[in-house]
Parts: sequence; C-alpha cells; structure tokens
Amino acid sequence: MSTDIDTQVASNASRPEAPVRTESSQAVRPEITGPDTPEAPYPIFLEGATQVGFGRGGKELGCPTANLPEESLASLSSVLPTGVYYGYAQVLSKPDDESSLSTEDRAVFPMVMSLGWNPYYKNEKKSAEVHVLHEFKADFYDHHMKVAVLGYIRPELDYTTREALIEDIETDKRVGIRSLDRPAYQELAHNPFFTLS
Ligand SMILES: Cc1cc2nc3c(=O)[nH]c(=O)nc-3n(C[C@H](O)[C@H](O)[C@H](O)COP(=O)(O)O)c2cc1C
Repeated sequence: MSTDIDTQVASNASRPEAPVRTESSQAVRPEITGPDTPEAPYPIFLEGATQVGFGRGGKELGCPTANLPEESLASLSSVLPTGVYYGYAQVLSKPDDESSLSTEDRAVFPMVMSLGWNPYYKNEKKSAEVHVLHEFKADFYDHHMKVAVLGYIRPELDYTTREALIEDIETDKRVGIRSLDRPAYQELAHNPFFTLS
C-alpha cells in the first residue's frame, strides 16, 4: 500500500507543489500540537555537522537556520512528510577547539525545523533546516549538532508575501515552545543522547 510518505520520498528529485497560505489557514492554528506524550515515530534522534543554507533565514526572516547533513535529511525523509516540526537541539564545540562555543551556547534548547523545499524561495533541493531558539554568541556553522525531533506543527506552505512567512514562523516558534512545555517533552531535554557539559 502506498502512503503519503512513500509518495514524498519517491518524489524527492523535484519540488512538488505546496498549498498557498491563506488568511483562514492562519486563523485556525492551534497553540499546542501533538499528544501529551510523544508517540511513534517520535522521538527521532539525529546528529551531524551543521551546514550553511542560502543565508536568507537570518537576514531576511530574522530566523537563522542550520541545515542538517544529507544523511540526516535522508533518514528523516524516510519517516516524516515535509512540514514544520519542533523538538530540542544542542550544538557542541569543535573537538579541536573546546572554546569555540561558550558553556551557555552548548546547552539543550527548543528548536523548530523546516523539512522540505521552501516553496516561497522555490528551492530545487530538499533540506532540513533547524532554527534553535537561543541567541548564540558565536557562529556555529560546521559544528556538531544533536537534534531530537518530537512533534509536527504544520505542513509546508507557499507564500505570496515574506511578511506572511515571517508571521507563520513566529507562530511556529510559539507553538513549538508551548508544545514542549509538557512534562513528557521536557524530560527529553535531559535524555542521555544529549551531551552533559
Ligand atoms: C520554523 C520554520 C518554518 C518554515 N516554513 C516555511 C514554509 O512553510 N514555506 C517556505 O517556503 N519556507 C519555510 N521556511 C523556510 C524558510 O524559507 C527558510 O528558512 C529560508 O529559506 C532561509 O533559508 P536559508 O537559510 O537556506 O537561506 C521555514 C523555516 C522555519 C525555520
């Protein structure tokens, strides 16, 4: 039997059409998504070196993102459809330079992740972009990042204005934080998968 996920994995070679965001889709967005305890396939644990995206996230959207490496993208795409997700992320110092990040920057923080094709920017390549909800004091590209994906927020949408995309990303951050603010999710920030400093 073919599922939506099979269809998305099979169609990885080119960008599929995404629904256009409308005022009514914005009006009905819930403040918390997912059950009170994470259910399969969550939690999904991934790690790898952070890669630089096209660099528009920070400059144009007020939301810098780090791209997960190809292996993480492939394993995520085999279990998750494109869309926006929440969870936790931790960026570690470079092994050859322990001082490349402060102790504070190396903590576990809430994150929101966009998995897909960024239809607004008409990307020709699928990506998994993580926005960590923390103001880093230092640049963390090419650092090792650990990510726990814990829940789904919404489908990936196409936008007619950048302001509408920014507004939705701001809502995603709020929904992510509120969804993680439940005991079974908070516990996962202390999972042994993450590195204790
Ligand atoms: C939480 C979140 C949600 C996003 N949702 C969408 C979306 O629905 N549609 C879209 O085209 N791009 C979406 N994006 C992706 C942005 O377009 C992307 O981060 C931007 O293209 C910057 O990428 P760059 O850093 O590679 O330049 C989202 C990004 C984040 C962090």
